[in-house]
Amino acid sequence: MHQGNQTTVSEFILLGLSSETEKQKVLFALFLGMYLVTVAGNGLIILAVVLNTSLHTPMYLFLANLSFADISSSSTFIPKMLVNLQTKSQSISYNSCITQMYFSIVFTVIDNFLLGVMAYDRFVAICHPLNYTTIMHPMLCMLLTVIPWVFSNIVALTHTLLLIQLVFCNSNTLPHFFCDLAPLLKLSCSDTTVNELVILVVGLSVILFPFTVILFSYICIIRAVLRLSSLGKRWKAFSTCGSHLTIVLLFYGTILGIYFCPVSTHPEDTDKIGAVLFTMVTPMVNPFIYSLRNKDMNGALRKLINKKWGLSLRCPHT
Ligand SMILES: *[C@@H]1O[C@H](CO)[C@@H](O)[C@H](O)[C@H]1NC(C)=O
Repeated sequence: MHQGNQTTVSEFILLGLSSETEKQKVLFALFLGMYLVTVAGNGLIILAVVLNTSLHTPMYLFLANLSFADISSSSTFIPKMLVNLQTKSQSISYNSCITQMYFSIVFTVIDNFLLGVMAYDRFVAICHPLNYTTIMHPMLCMLLTVIPWVFSNIVALTHTLLLIQLVFCNSNTLPHFFCDLAPLLKLSCSDTTVNELVILVVGLSVILFPFTVILFSYICIIRAVLRLSSLGKRWKAFSTCGSHLTIVLLFYGTILGIYFCPVSTHPEDTDKIGAVLFTMVTPMVNPFIYSLRNKDMNGALRKLINKKWGLSLRCPHT
């Protein structure tokens, strides 16, 4: 069935980024900066939520979970990309490549489901405020954070087990900046019909189910908010949900951007760099969207910084 060279590859070449040395230096600094901001910002959110008992409500616990998934998903590919930029090598071993793919699927699926869970939480809070504590009891919150983990690992395992059956023979050059499922399939010289079918079915359900929950939640939320009589209450509800909605739009914008402007069809450096930035921006801006617009979160962060580093940061006159 397979013709030509049958030797399987032991490593892949990630063509991802610019080959010009000058550009590589700038990119290294840019990506390192973005990565540090992502880790620090999301790390602060996790610390603020975990250390503040007043923030132990479903909304903030889900937010901390999202921050954790954001740090993890950036960590699946940015450190490797930085090392490759610095060492001027583009190779990644077969095993690392499969591992990278596995975890990038896991965290993308978790992000997706957590956005759905957060929308559902706001829906209950705004549309059924009287029953909020009965509906969102700790047991359900636990389930809503554990199920995405279990489910995303099943999804990633399915894709990975199907992928490792494939033979790679002609080329090991990936026109991408990390080992992603779709470019790997394109590279294989085996028949990938089954893999593609599974991607379509699983991918659609993974995206459509949370998306439907988000859509219906926000329709109810917007209708409920418009019915509120007090302008102050209306503004408060809008500002919380506005930040959630911004993240949802960014996330689905990124997915659409990547699917409709696939990296491989635009071989120029600029397009690839744009795609990387796009993927890195959502996890990076999440903490800012939340903490800048949210009074409780702001207070908790300020308290955290004062308590932990207060001695060195506090002005002598205050
Ligand atoms: C994630 O959510 C669960 C349950 O809602 C909570 O117990 C846990 O502490 C959260 N994780 C983080 C990192 O805050």
